[in-house]
Amino acid sequence: MWIYFVLAAALLPVYWFRDRYAYWQKRGVPHLPGRFPFGNLQNLNSQHLSALAKRQYEQLKSPGRKLGGIFFFINPVAMALELDFVRDVLIKDFQYFHDRGLYYNEKDDPLTAHLLSLEGAKWKYLRSKLTPTFTSGKMKMMFPTVTAVAERFQQSLGAEAGKMQEIEIKDFLARYTTDVIGTCAFGLECNSLQDPQAKFRVMGRKAFPQGLLTLLKIFFGLMFRDVARWFGMRVLNKDVSDFFMGAVRDTIEYRETNNVRRNDFMDLLIELKNGDPSQEDQSDRLTFNQTAAQAFLFFAAGFETSSTVMTFCLFELANNQTLQDKARQNVIDVLKKHGSMTYEAVHDMKYLENCIHESLRKYPPIVNVFRNVTKPYKVADTDIVLDKRCQVMIPVHAIHHDPAYYPDPERFDPDRFEPEQTALRHPMTFIPFGDGPRSCIGLRFGMMQARIGMAHLLLKFRFRLGARVSVPLEIDPSSLVLSPKGGMWLNVEKI
Ligand code: HEM
Ligand SMILES: *[C@@H]1O[C@H](CO)[C@@H](O)[C@H](O)[C@H]1NC(C)=O
Ligand SMILES: *[C@@H]1O[C@H](CO)[C@@H](O)[C@H](O)[C@H]1NC(C)=O
Ligand SMILES: *[C@@H]1O[C@H](CO)[C@@H](O)[C@H](O)[C@H]1NC(C)=O
Repeated sequence: MWIYFVLAAALLPVYWFRDRYAYWQKRGVPHLPGRFPFGNLQNLNSQHLSALAKRQYEQLKSPGRKLGGIFFFINPVAMALELDFVRDVLIKDFQYFHDRGLYYNEKDDPLTAHLLSLEGAKWKYLRSKLTPTFTSGKMKMMFPTVTAVAERFQQSLGAEAGKMQEIEIKDFLARYTTDVIGTCAFGLECNSLQDPQAKFRVMGRKAFPQGLLTLLKIFFGLMFRDVARWFGMRVLNKDVSDFFMGAVRDTIEYRETNNVRRNDFMDLLIELKNGDPSQEDQSDRLTFNQTAAQAFLFFAAGFETSSTVMTFCLFELANNQTLQDKARQNVIDVLKKHGSMTYEAVHDMKYLENCIHESLRKYPPIVNVFRNVTKPYKVADTDIVLDKRCQVMIPVHAIHHDPAYYPDPERFDPDRFEPEQTALRHPMTFIPFGDGPRSCIGLRFGMMQARIGMAHLLLKFRFRLGARVSVPLEIDPSSLVLSPKGGMWLNVEKI
């Protein structure tokens, strides 16, 4: 008798998993067969997620097909294959897709409850409150602060270039963006340019998901968030969390006791924390933990993405001296026209901007963008209905490498971003910052930081590929943000 129980107990999960993996088939959606336990997330220890998604995109793409089905572990994910569908998800039908479905745990891991992961009304409220921090007016106010860091950056690279044959430029650039965002978000001189072991740099490095275990944890939280929350699963290291909590607490205390205002990100967050004293209802105020989470996010989202863009841009310019000369000449010409490195001058460097955009195309730091389906959604011009259980994935990197939109996609060609060429493409062919109401809030800041950094570098230095760099580049499979394997070793020569 009990043998039947054992048999049933053994077969039930098997049956259940098979049923899960039949999800797309039952709905008549073209899909890739999922396999227990990883679904279609295979070989992530040896290949980057971008390479995997690109192959799956190529396998699924077919004329007129809007989406294809894949599985992350045992959960269905709809991969967008067509640009109008991408636009519907990100912009037109946003009300179905306002959440990202990331794992966060406000109770055990309070720094993860930030704008990137918050959902529904909470997200909407914060987004509208934080948006005024990122206007071009605010960028202009922060411009001198960023330029001052860039000048220090120029000097320390100059000192280093005299001493060393080859320089690992990725770490150098991350120190620049760490100092920029540390100054603008925390009002601190992080000083990681002078001291590579500065605490902010060390903690910033540790804050970023590295290694297979952390990636698996993130995906686990993504797929089984209630279970993960129940277990109190944290994704941030405790020392990282304690350090940033402490830094935010010190900054707020200092500013409140000394009545200091600096017109930066932190000032706005303090305003949101204290609320509007004239209002009766104070329920909208941020708690200290929520304030700290936003500051932490600005830091985490601000330095790695921007330094990555600059790293890849320098790599491509080092790989093609003709393009590098052209970019440098653009900086020199514009500086001559404007007289000095002003906000307007930096925005007038159109060829430099094309180079940065082409880097963002070829190497989007965030390789896929996700949306959670929050109510049943009928896909336009099809019979497919996406239900609440599933997520939509926009394969940014794969779209950026689709030869239908970018002929010879592996070629680095800044002229692709000449206005007349851009006008010929669907707007959704270039989405390194996502798009729609939930796109990157820091786009202006990230671009400003990259422009200023690149202009200062090209003006004073010539870059050549170091002996350790392989062409084409190898991508580090263990890093969530797109990143070259083994760093970026360049020959840096003063001009
Ligand atoms: C070149 C640099 C950057 C790149 C490539 C980048 C990319 C992205 C992407 C792809 C998203 C998701 C968009 C979507 O789902 O549609 C995002 C969201 C976000 N980014 Fe950035 N980012 C950059 C710089 C920054 C900076 C400098 C900051 C802040 C100072 C920042 C703050 C954020 C925030 C807060 C979100 C979440 C927005 C929301 O959910 O409402 N990013 N970013
Ligand atoms: C998506 O959102 C729904 C409802 O808002 C939520 O119940 C579900 O857990 C979310 N799913 C994922 C994978 O984030
Ligand atoms: C804030 O976070 C800390 C550290 O995780 C936690 O001990 C505390 O209970 C949180 N406070 C509130 C009000 O949630
Ligand atoms: C450099 O880029 C230009 C423009 O895209 C191209 O014509 C040229 O062949 C490239 N040179 C090398 C050495 O790759």
